[in-house]
Amino acid sequence: MSTFQTGILADLPQQAIFIEFALKPNGDAQAVLDDLSLLDVDEKIVFGLGQGLISAVGKTIDGLRAFPALSGPGCEVPTTQASLWCWLRGSDRGKLFHQARQIALGFEKQLRISKITNCYKYSNGLDLSGYEDGTENPTEDAAVKAAIVSPSMGDLAGSSFVAVQNWLHDFDVLDDLPIAETDDIIGRRKLDNEEFEEAPVSAHVKRTAQETFDPEAFVVRRSMPWSEGLEGGFMFIAFGATLNSYEAQLKRMAGLEDGIVDGLFKFTTPISGSYFWCPPVNEQGHLDLTALK
Ligand code: HEM
Repeated sequence: MSTFQTGILADLPQQAIFIEFALKPNGDAQAVLDDLSLLDVDEKIVFGLGQGLISAVGKTIDGLRAFPALSGPGCEVPTTQASLWCWLRGSDRGKLFHQARQIALGFEKQLRISKITNCYKYSNGLDLSGYEDGTENPTEDAAVKAAIVSPSMGDLAGSSFVAVQNWLHDFDVLDDLPIAETDDIIGRRKLDNEEFEEAPVSAHVKRTAQETFDPEAFVVRRSMPWSEGLEGGFMFIAFGATLNSYEAQLKRMAGLEDGIVDGLFKFTTPISGSYFWCPPVNEQGHLDLTALK
């Protein structure tokens, strides 16, 4: 029986590399799928396939689509949809570097790297703004329910869908904001991570409160900080049994529900966005692509 890719629900690694690939103009999508189905997939790696790669071989996955570009009052959310996504997870940055090279070389004929981001755990789970991330993540059975397609769904069972969205922080803005204001932006106190009722409606945790959506919009977030030189931000990652939960949150953040934009946009900007289908893994430890129709 196939089960989900274990890296999805495993704890965040100390180090990670996220790679997004685009199909080359003359790239052979079927060859990519054939190669993918031979790779060993364990807790140290997670793969996601984009809509374009799947449609290039004349197949579909129910619920998968391209990441939408959104425009809200004073904020833009871009799409940079890629063909294939790979999350390398570990603790030794050198080993991850060599693994990334091997994977890229293996797909070299068909795919080019469209984005590669080195990420790490900061102070046991903080975003670089200093706020703790992941507090309201569902855990154990609730995490499986939120992130993994249920066994009743036939070939799709054990799959997951992931939203991958890179954010670029403006640290000069953050430097100038008093803590009371950044607390209002997030809706939790930096000091003790407590949520506080008086936070404005634009506060991030009020915008995204998962149980306030209809239907409820639970996701499992596995986001990680990144920096390159003196630029940095957050590689936002949300796994879901459907993409609808993330998309409902994002639309509300961008003010598309009620015109109120999430406070986060005061110091950070999304600079990429892709959706992927994360296939289950079969008993041999390989990606199970039988759900492709
Ligand atoms: C730079 C980007 C982001 C940063 C720094 C950030 C940071 C945070 C922080 C500090 C929390 C509070 C602690 C927690 O429960 O995890 C939080 C909660 C949350 N965030 Fe984000 N976030 C970002 C982007 C997003 C995006 C794009 C979404 C979805 C579209 C999202 C969805 C959520 C959800 C669902 C919660 C939990 C809300 C609840 O049920 O209480 N976040 N985020």
